[in-house]
Amino acid sequence: MPRKIILDCDPGHDDAMAILLAQGSPDIDLVGITTVAGNQTLDKTTLNARRVCSAAGITDVPICAGCAAPLLRPLVTAAYIHGESGLDGPQWPEPTVPLSDEHAVDFIVRTIMESDGDVTLVPVGPLTNIALALRREPRIVAKTREVVLMGGSSERGNHTPAAEFNIIVDPEAAAAVFSTPWPVTMVGLNLTHQAGAGPDVVERIRALGSPLARTVVDLLGFFGSTYKVAEGRPHPPVHDPCAVARVAKPELVEVQDAFVVVETKGEWTSGMTVTDFTGRLGRAPNAKVATVLDRAGFWDEMVSAIAALGPASR
Ligand code: BDR
Ligand code: CA
Repeated sequence: MPRKIILDCDPGHDDAMAILLAQGSPDIDLVGITTVAGNQTLDKTTLNARRVCSAAGITDVPICAGCAAPLLRPLVTAAYIHGESGLDGPQWPEPTVPLSDEHAVDFIVRTIMESDGDVTLVPVGPLTNIALALRREPRIVAKTREVVLMGGSSERGNHTPAAEFNIIVDPEAAAAVFSTPWPVTMVGLNLTHQAGAGPDVVERIRALGSPLARTVVDLLGFFGSTYKVAEGRPHPPVHDPCAVARVAKPELVEVQDAFVVVETKGEWTSGMTVTDFTGRLGRAPNAKVATVLDRAGFWDEMVSAIAALGPASR
């Protein structure tokens, strides 16, 4: 049975790849896409979700806009990685798929409460929508199958030396998600840095020859250029689809139990996901932490998903 997921995202180049993997994988049933402010403002991330779905022929998945700002802090965006549009690189035609009238938080609560407990949340942006859904309807805790999120790191950060972007944008929301007693898997930078889109991958995608494949190649071209400048990386790490891959094919992503807590007050370390694998803090594990990626298997899944999609494919 394909696993039902809600993808909560802030597209974003790698968010776009996460949407494609979620819809193109036979192991995933994408029941909804919810958007949040993060890589860019909410109006831009929502437009981008619609652009990606239109380009990929994803017409049967509701897209719901969520929160325009973090719980307590002013919004910080990542134009230095994703450009002014949030999805710079390709030429995007006017999107053809509509936006739902339902707020993302209402959609998340309603979908989970109406489910048989079989819906997994896959947040790959700041955790604002998820924290507000918890506040609005605490009974979702018992009814959510699991939360598999891209965010944090068991090692260093990226937006600051200590903090990963999705967590530092809304650390209070992230703290709420990690301190809630539901099954959480953290797919952080220590894992996603293993998912570099090198020339081998780009050429495989280009060889698919479809308009969607060309769009993805253009996305990776822009993403690669900003990552070179921002972090000196030879190949851009495609973070967000790694969380989807963990749900689709768990064997692609090894995990270890750990206690994870989000630093919200540190002068230099705010937004850090302090990760204790060995029990030094005397706390029981509250999360699974992704550690090792099967890179070849991951890219096989990603390429097959892109090959399966396109304007007339679904
Ligand atoms: C995360 O931050 C965003 O820029 C990416 O889309 C990803 O979700 C990586 O730190
Ligand atoms: Ca993202």
